[in-house]
Amino acid sequence: MIRLPGLIDPHVHLRYLDPVKEDFSTGTNAAIAGGYTMILDMPNNNPPITTIERLQAKINHASQYARCDIGFYFGSLGDNLDEFHKIINLVYGLKLYLNVTTGGYIIDEKSLNIIYKKWNEVTNGKKPILLHAEEDVFEMVERVLKATPHPTHIVHVSTEEELIKIISLKKNGFPITCGVCPHHLFLKNDDLQKLGPYGIMKPSLKTKTDQEFLWENIQYIDIIESDHAPHTKEQKESENPPSGVPGLETTLPLLLTAMSKNKITKDDIIRLCHTGPKEIFHLPIQPYTYIDIDENIEYEIKNENLFTKCKWTPFNGFKVKGKVVKVVLRGETIFENGKIIDTQKKAHILHE
Ligand code: DOR
Ligand code: ZN
Repeated sequence: MIRLPGLIDPHVHLRYLDPVKEDFSTGTNAAIAGGYTMILDMPNNNPPITTIERLQAKINHASQYARCDIGFYFGSLGDNLDEFHKIINLVYGLKLYLNVTTGGYIIDEKSLNIIYKKWNEVTNGKKPILLHAEEDVFEMVERVLKATPHPTHIVHVSTEEELIKIISLKKNGFPITCGVCPHHLFLKNDDLQKLGPYGIMKPSLKTKTDQEFLWENIQYIDIIESDHAPHTKEQKESENPPSGVPGLETTLPLLLTAMSKNKITKDDIIRLCHTGPKEIFHLPIQPYTYIDIDENIEYEIKNENLFTKCKWTPFNGFKVKGKVVKVVLRGETIFENGKIIDTQKKAHILHE
């Protein structure tokens, strides 16, 4: 048996306004079953979380349904700078999209500079800005960071080229951290043929060379983040499948399997899935919170066994080694032997 601290996933997309997609109840159950006791939810809802009213409505909703602790990010297209001071104690960071993704956010360099200056001033240089920054936008990021050296977390790095640029920025003293998704560590572009729409996500699956580079440079990666997306099978099978894959229940078993093959250590898992996110986003401590793992249980990941409302995973059929057997949050068992245990105590909505 291995005991780990409750894991933290700082990058999930739940969609409480859409009746068919993953919501706070199903999404947080999936988190718990996957060994996570704390998650941070992204702002690319429809409508996007760019005003205090929308953020407050989301928080109110989550406070009724969330089963594990949950915190939020704010969004911006550069036209809501006056909202920043109102929401600053309610969020853990600001998420910006420099490439097109679900929700249609995208911003240019001029807006980016203005947003950085304002966010830096309002947060006293503390709460990170998260960037969806694929491919060729790194020169722009470097220029913006030179003007305003605000803590910046690059989400879901997937290529050798991107990671090389991030390593170089880190070595040059820029306040930059990065996260990698499990699907980029355990799937490659040649899996696309088999996966069809279930392998479509942003950033897309990359080459074997990219994947090997991520593994070889795991010491430069600060966080493993699932980018858990909320889309149903029907939506994925439709003519226009949305991007994204669920990941909350499969990340830890995949990492434990990698540990059983000596690709990573237990300390790497703690750093990437607990300490890293906790320090980067200044998250609160969860006292008496831990997960127990039987590292010897071998099983097959199956769509039908998942708690997520999506009921599918790109890892369906994967044989893994290592299973969460118990999750304890603030002294109370909330998951044991494959079952969520309903408790009277409420999950915490995280804010300062
Ligand atoms: O594949 C993705 N889906 N990538 C993102 O960045 C957003 C996410 C979503 O919100 O569905
Ligand atoms: Zn995302």
